[in-house]
This record gives sequence, structure tokens and C-alpha cells, in this order.
Amino acid sequence: MQKACVIGWPIKHSRSPLIHKYWLKQYGLVGDYEKVAVDPKNLESFILDIENFGFQGCNVTIPHKEKVFEIVTVADPLTQSIGAVNTVYFENNTVYGLNTDGYGFISNLKSGVREIKFLDMTCVVIGAGGASRAIIAALLGQGVAHIILINRTIEKAEELANHFGNRVSSAKFSELNNSISKADLLVNTTSLGMTGQPELEINLENLPPHCCVTDIVYAPLETNLLKQARQRGNPTVDGLGMLLHQAAPGFEKWFGIFPKVTKDLRNIIIDDLGK
Ligand code: ATR
Repeated sequence: MQKACVIGWPIKHSRSPLIHKYWLKQYGLVGDYEKVAVDPKNLESFILDIENFGFQGCNVTIPHKEKVFEIVTVADPLTQSIGAVNTVYFENNTVYGLNTDGYGFISNLKSGVREIKFLDMTCVVIGAGGASRAIIAALLGQGVAHIILINRTIEKAEELANHFGNRVSSAKFSELNNSISKADLLVNTTSLGMTGQPELEINLENLPPHCCVTDIVYAPLETNLLKQARQRGNPTVDGLGMLLHQAAPGFEKWFGIFPKVTKDLRNIIIDDLGK
């Protein structure tokens, strides 16, 4: 039986099993997907020996993504530019690492706003952590013209802007409300606005009416940022789709079918979020 898993430390709260088990059932596949808590000190041996642990591969979550990037034998150029891995698969006696967060982000926007074209866009991205890195790499790959990167710790925004080159510039949080005036896309990649976290303080007065607004936070499903944007008439896309879409490439690697993100699946996760 083909098996995959999600690894983290801790791992209790991961919703990945719900997603992959849904697809296994949907496509009538004999397989399984488990949660495995992997202590950082055992991470390298787990990844390099993943097949002997009984798995075709795994998803990787906090705090292991950067370390797993260093451990895997092969990573594609996009994953290399992100420096973090969320999907591992074993093929031809080789351990491969992929980062599908950016793919998930772009697919989610495309399914939320059908007419979206990334080419030549100006984007404002809030946050300069791991999620931001994957999203910036993906947006640059789609041909956006300019990304204004805003972060509380400006040094981290500057570091990322330098890493990604001249299409990315950094700005202070105090410049947020002004910098959105030219935005075609506004993204929150921080945990601000998540249940139990402080709110993202933002004034959307200067936001162009066509600007698409999205948040990687999906609990609550409609963050205050998305609510404010919706009330002004801007197109909005919530963060849950990114979680669902990022899972699809891994499923294909382990189980051989590229799965569909359906409304049904979305509702299963929404039900679970409410528990
Ligand atoms: P992830 O991998 O999910 O992106 P991370 O790497 O810890 O998580 O990054 C968290 C991001 O949220 C960072 O940009 C962080 O800003 P700093 O670089 O200044 O720490 C941002 N963030 C988290 N809490 C914040 C807060 N209360 N105010 C402003 N930014 C915050």
C-alpha cells in the first residue's frame, strides 16, 4: 500500500490528512496518509530513509521546512530560490524536495478570480517570513512587474528584496497605507488577523478599486483585511484555497493522480475549522 505523511514538531493540528484522505477516497485508491511527529534530532535520518519508514514521501511543516531543504538530495530551481521544502518524494533511489506553497498561492488566486493576469502587476506583499519567500518567488515566476515588500522588521524585507533582485523593493510598515495606492494585488503573508493574534492595522482608502486582496490566514476564513476589501467592492480570495492547492502536487507524486480541489473538500476543512 502506498503511504505518505505530514511531518512536524508538534504535528497534532495539521489538516493535511483530511485533504489527502479525501482524495484517496475520491479516486478509489488504496493508500494512507498519516501524521508523524519528528523530533528535529531525528529529522535527517527520517528524510533520507523515508522509504524504509514505509512512506513514498511526506509534507513538511513547522519547524522543519528550511532544514529539510538542506537534507534532500535534489531540489528544483524554484525550491532553491525559496530555500524551504514542504513536499518530499522518493523516486529512482533519490530524495527530492519541492516547495508547492507558491503554486498553491497562484492556483488559489486563479480559481478565485478567473480573469486574473499576473503579467506586469504591481504587488504589495506584507510580511517577510517563509510564506512570503514562496509567494514572492511564485509571483516573480508569473511575470509581475514590481513587488513592494512591507515588514515590521525592515532588515528582513531588505534582505529578501536583495535576494530576489530589482523587481522587489522594501518599505516600512508605516508606508503601508500609501504604498497600496498603485497595487493590483495586495497580500498578507503574516499571522496578523489570525484568531488569537493581533489585527493587521491597515487603511484601504488609497486602494485602487480593481486591486485583488488575499490573505494566507484562513482562520477566520474572512479576515478583517478581506472583509474591509469586500465591503469596498474589491475582489477578494481567502487563504484556505492555498492550503488545498499546495497539497495537490505532492498527492500526484505519491499516488499518481493530480487531484481536483473541490467545493466538497473545502467544506470538509471548513467544518473541521469550526470544531
Ligand atoms: P511564516 O513561515 O508563516 O511566514 P515566519 O517566518 O515566522 O512565518 O514569518 C512571520 C511574518 O509575520 C514575519 O514577516 C513577521 O514580521 P517580523 O519579520 O517583523 O517578525 C510577521 N509578523 C508576525 N507577527 C507580527 C506582528 N505582531 N506585527 C507585525 N508583523 C508580524
